[in-house]
Amino acid sequence: MKEVINEYNVVPLPVTMNEQPGRFYLNSDVPVVVNASQEVKNIASSLSTTVLDVAGIKLKPGGELHENVPTIVFDSIPGMEKEAYKLSVTPQQIKITASTPNGFYYGLQTLYQLLPVAIYSKERARNAEWSVPCVEIEDTPAFRYRGAMLDVCRHFASIDYIKKFIDVLAVHKMNTFHWHLTDDQGWRIEIKKYPKLTEIGSQRSETMVDYFYTHYPFKYDGKPHGGYYTQEEIKEVVAYAQSKYITVIPEIELPGHALAAIASYPELSCTPDSTYEVCKLWGVFDQVFCPTDTFFQFMEGVMDEVVELFPSSYIHIGGDEVHYGNQSWFTDPEIQNFIKEKKLVDEKGLEHYYLRRAADIVASKGKTMIGWDEIIDAGISPRKAVVMWWRHDRQHQLVKALENGYRVILTPRRPMYADFTQFGAHKVGRQWAGYNTIENLYNFPEPISHLMKGYENQVMGMQMSLWTERVADFKRLDFMVFPRLIALAEAA
Ligand code: ACM
Repeated sequence: MKEVINEYNVVPLPVTMNEQPGRFYLNSDVPVVVNASQEVKNIASSLSTTVLDVAGIKLKPGGELHENVPTIVFDSIPGMEKEAYKLSVTPQQIKITASTPNGFYYGLQTLYQLLPVAIYSKERARNAEWSVPCVEIEDTPAFRYRGAMLDVCRHFASIDYIKKFIDVLAVHKMNTFHWHLTDDQGWRIEIKKYPKLTEIGSQRSETMVDYFYTHYPFKYDGKPHGGYYTQEEIKEVVAYAQSKYITVIPEIELPGHALAAIASYPELSCTPDSTYEVCKLWGVFDQVFCPTDTFFQFMEGVMDEVVELFPSSYIHIGGDEVHYGNQSWFTDPEIQNFIKEKKLVDEKGLEHYYLRRAADIVASKGKTMIGWDEIIDAGISPRKAVVMWWRHDRQHQLVKALENGYRVILTPRRPMYADFTQFGAHKVGRQWAGYNTIENLYNFPEPISHLMKGYENQVMGMQMSLWTERVADFKRLDFMVFPRLIALAEAA
């Protein structure tokens, strides 16, 4: 029987990984040689810092390559893909090769995974053997967008939890954090021009227990819930993510899912004389932003601050689940006049006008809008919008988006919604919605790849999305997100 000496616990599995006999031993005679930019030198010194903190080994900074001295080398070469790297480990040398800091960062993540798991501890680890199994790895991602969404509106998440979430994304070479910051049940981002958004909109008086019709009449928990991020905290998270080569994409929802904003500023609704409260129920509601100049000025003001906080070239503006069934869009003479004036045919036409104008506002700030797949029908130029496909049961919407030239991010509810249960028998999660197994994620997007044939360049990538109606604490959050998110990292 072949003797197994080395273990290779690398997740996601590299494109090629040739296991070799022997190991490289870390010790204080090992120099770190960097033939690359200052940014890569910083990545290399983060390795030295980690090894010093955790292993107590002081690698030698800088210096030249010496024959017969085991060395760690970061070597920049031109021409590799943006996020690609090579990692070669022999008893004499650890060498990471890449063309960009992103590639070096990922090479380093793989190196960490090959070290004892104690490398991830926050303090000095005893009893670990600081060596790396020999290997030849070449790696590049299958998709340029590898994301995870977290809804912090239904339940708030602390900055510490967000950073931990980002840590786990980075370890698994995910590159995008989609931060769902506004919804009916809470507005979570400080906007200095509109202070009531957080003074009023970030707090709800109580929350429904379970889901619609689990109890009838509905039950409420009687406990206030709230929280928001200051602009300083948001900058801190964005910088933290950036240091791990993760882009943060904010989502500011419109025109639906707007009750927290409308509770703060009722003039943003079509019935400005009504009073509203931050929503205590889960679901989809008829009170949406009214398409008035007041609203579009508001959106401009919000976007002006958002684009300053988020360097991402994309801003998500929602666009899903716009219900206006019971409300005044159908009866309000002003709105009906507006529809006629703009030759919009009907209320649907008004929704689409809205989305086109939102896309223009985002474009005027030098950014590209992302919207949920409802936006496909709005007639927005594909140069100005990216479609996030979520309705797995409407495959024709995915096909239409691709045929119409849109770039697409795949986050179909099945299998990409992490709030769905993981097993048929589970009680934790949205059981009514079906369940998303870890196998479904590993296998994605194979079951729908035929729909994307010929349009592969427009498919930016995939994302797991976690809505938190039924996920109220971090332990449950961890349970719902991991390890399915890591299975997605494997697929992406
Ligand atoms: C969504 O789940 N409404 C995008």
